[in-house]
Amino acid sequence: MAGYSRPDDLSEHHSLTDFTCGEESIDSWVQGRVRANQALGFSRTFVTTEPDSDLVVGLYCLSSVSVPRQSVGKPERGSDPPRDLPAVLLGKLAVVSHLQDSGIGLGTDLMRDAIVRTLTVSLSVVVRLMVVDALNERLTGWYERFGFTSLKQTDWSPTTNGPGPVRRATNISTLLPRWSGWTAGR
Ligand SMILES: CC(C)(COP(=O)(O)OP(=O)(O)OC[C@H]1O[C@@H](n2cnc3c(N)ncnc32)[C@H](O)[C@@H]1OP(=O)(O)O)[C@@H](O)C(=O)NCCC(=O)NCCS
Repeated sequence: MAGYSRPDDLSEHHSLTDFTCGEESIDSWVQGRVRANQALGFSRTFVTTEPDSDLVVGLYCLSSVSVPRQSVGKPERGSDPPRDLPAVLLGKLAVVSHLQDSGIGLGTDLMRDAIVRTLTVSLSVVVRLMVVDALNERLTGWYERFGFTSLKQTDWSPTTNGPGPVRRATNISTLLPRWSGWTAGR
């Protein structure tokens, strides 16, 4: 199967009505909040669609956060860092249920696209980290495939900016040589 569109900014013409990934927190956000958040500038969502269609089959969103320097190991924060490190938060990464684990690799490609987009931004505006909130341990392992590592301090969460369970972060400079391109469309 090929031809899934390269992720694009969510717009009016995209159809999200049938989008369900099986993760309740994401499904309810997609049905209830995603368009408002986009319009209000709280997060930016990128979507991929079925070939020749506006039907969304995968998405992720990006926003900016500050990571307290004490949450991050020395290699990532460098010496004498500012109190907070500028970061991009990757949220709500999801693929429609029927295409998960299908061999197409849509989730992997969405992840790659998010990393490349973040790296591109970091050429103009300093971004020291890319952070994600892994919903469970299995997903933590999945994110580790892309170079994400555990934040040092586990009482800080990128999504609440306060107490939370173990979270993952990565120094994006380590990802630069490793990822580029969108393959699911080929
Ligand atoms: C996580 C998710 C985006 C992965 O997308 P995908 O298109 O199925 O994944 P890919 O095809 O690119 O990668 C497949 C690999 O990921 C693994 N994988 C798939 N879903 C996984 C999950 N929920 N947790 C951990 N690993 C998962 C598969 O076992 C497979 O491993 P393999 O390469 O060893 O065979 C997708 O399962 C999803 O949308 N899940 C529901 C929403 C969600 O939990 N999002 C993450 C929020 S933190």
